[in-house]
Amino acid sequence: MNLTPHSNQNLPVQDLPVVVGITGASGSILGFRMIEVLLQQNCPVELVMTEKSLQVIFEELNFKVSGQEKSERIIQHLGLPSEKTGLLKVFGNHELDAAPSSGTHLTRGMVITPCSMGTLGRIAAGIGDNLVSRAADVTLKEHRKLIIVPRESPLNQIHLKNLLTLSQCGVCIIPPVLTFYLKDFQSMDGQINYTLGKVMDQLGLAHDLYTRWGNHTSSNNTPELVKTP
Ligand SMILES: Cc1cc2nc3c(=O)[nH]c(=O)nc-3n(C[C@H](O)[C@H](O)[C@H](O)COP(=O)(O)O)c2cc1C
Repeated sequence: MNLTPHSNQNLPVQDLPVVVGITGASGSILGFRMIEVLLQQNCPVELVMTEKSLQVIFEELNFKVSGQEKSERIIQHLGLPSEKTGLLKVFGNHELDAAPSSGTHLTRGMVITPCSMGTLGRIAAGIGDNLVSRAADVTLKEHRKLIIVPRESPLNQIHLKNLLTLSQCGVCIIPPVLTFYLKDFQSMDGQINYTLGKVMDQLGLAHDLYTRWGNHTSSNNTPELVKTP
């Protein structure tokens, strides 16, 4: 393997990149918003999109990407200031010699959002045949934080067994489930923010994606809390 020397060896943990994998499950917006939220917090991002995700991204976001997209175009698509470009590196899924393929390359951890059942199965079986599954394998072997946002419904027993296998290996599984208890969550954006806020909490990164329980106004006269009929 022709691994190029890595530049992040001596970075303090807060400057280490988060590897973001986007797969061909529905919910590409969860991947793109993830990048946006991380970059807004000035967290470096190393992005890998699977080949299948490119089709889903086009279907769902009407954004045509090549897989090895220039970071400038993604930053532009996200509406972020161009100064953020230096924080985003994009790798092709076939690039098994890219930095996230090696445990010597330090990262804060990895998030796969949305995660297809195919990628889930590959990780659970230890098959590192593309950069997303290899980087996940490396994240696990180095005992770093691996967070998966799996998307499928309904789930069959194979999916559930694979999720259990990964959970037993210490993977944090954050399914994008509907959430209702605060008004913050009453829109599609609110639901997405809820899921990604949970991811940010797991990464130990600050965010203001939702009001935290206990920080909302009291339930008797609050305009924020959803009242049950
Ligand atoms: C529009 C569209 C939506 C899809 N949604 C899902 C999904 O939610 N979950 C899933 O596991 N697979 C979904 N698939 C199928 C995956 O794309 C397919 O299994 C693919 O092989 C996954 O490969 P990857 O894990 O390398 O991205 C979807 C496919 C398409 C075209």
